[in-house]
Amino acid sequence: MVNTTARRKTARKSTAKKQTPARTRTATQKNRQTENTEPLLREYFIDELKDIYWAEKKLVTSLPRLQKAAGSEELKDALGEHLDVTREHVARLEDIFGQLGEKAQAKKCEAMEGIIAETESVIEDTEQGTATRDVAVIMAAQKAEHYEIATYGGLRQLAATMGLQTIADLLNTTLEEEKEADETLTGIAENDINYQAAEENKEDGEEDTDEEEQEEEPEEDTDEDEEEEDAKK
Ligand SMILES: [Fe+2]
Repeated sequence: MVNTTARRKTARKSTAKKQTPARTRTATQKNRQTENTEPLLREYFIDELKDIYWAEKKLVTSLPRLQKAAGSEELKDALGEHLDVTREHVARLEDIFGQLGEKAQAKKCEAMEGIIAETESVIEDTEQGTATRDVAVIMAAQKAEHYEIATYGGLRQLAATMGLQTIADLLNTTLEEEKEADETLTGIAENDINYQAAEENKEDGEEDTDEEEQEEEPEEDTDEDEEEEDAKK
């Protein structure tokens, strides 16, 4: 009994030694002390503000397109409301740039450009007036929202870390509004549109059930499966 406990203690000790690379840690700490990271962090922060400023301005021009593509009145209203809020987000960012003594400048956001391009293609691929189109519009808008939520969440934290509390609070207001818009869209999808789209597809699918069943059959795995079975033997 005593021997086992002693052995366990020794084992723990040796594991603890392995987990502490003392030399590496000291080197990292030295680097942290010598680097003056604050100007770099501020530069990065401003760069990210420019990115989201571009994204918000892009959304001001893209949301009316989504609103037009939507069929449900509830969805159209939600997108219209978010357009108004998005205009406020642009103005809030301009205020933040002002507080930082920087000129409000937009820097192309590749991510938002990609999301908007995808939006265009889902609109093209779905039929006007169908619930499936509305499902696609909601998903497209939510992808944009989630990008914004990630960005504002990060920026708010960064502002707080840099001691810019007023700016952190402004970013937090926008973040909460983005979350609200996202939840509204989820509500519309869950309570109504997703169900309608499922029904719509059921009706369309009734005619070609046989074809779909055929498509679902596995086609190319037979040889590999036989080989696996052979190997087991
Ligand atoms: Fe926004």
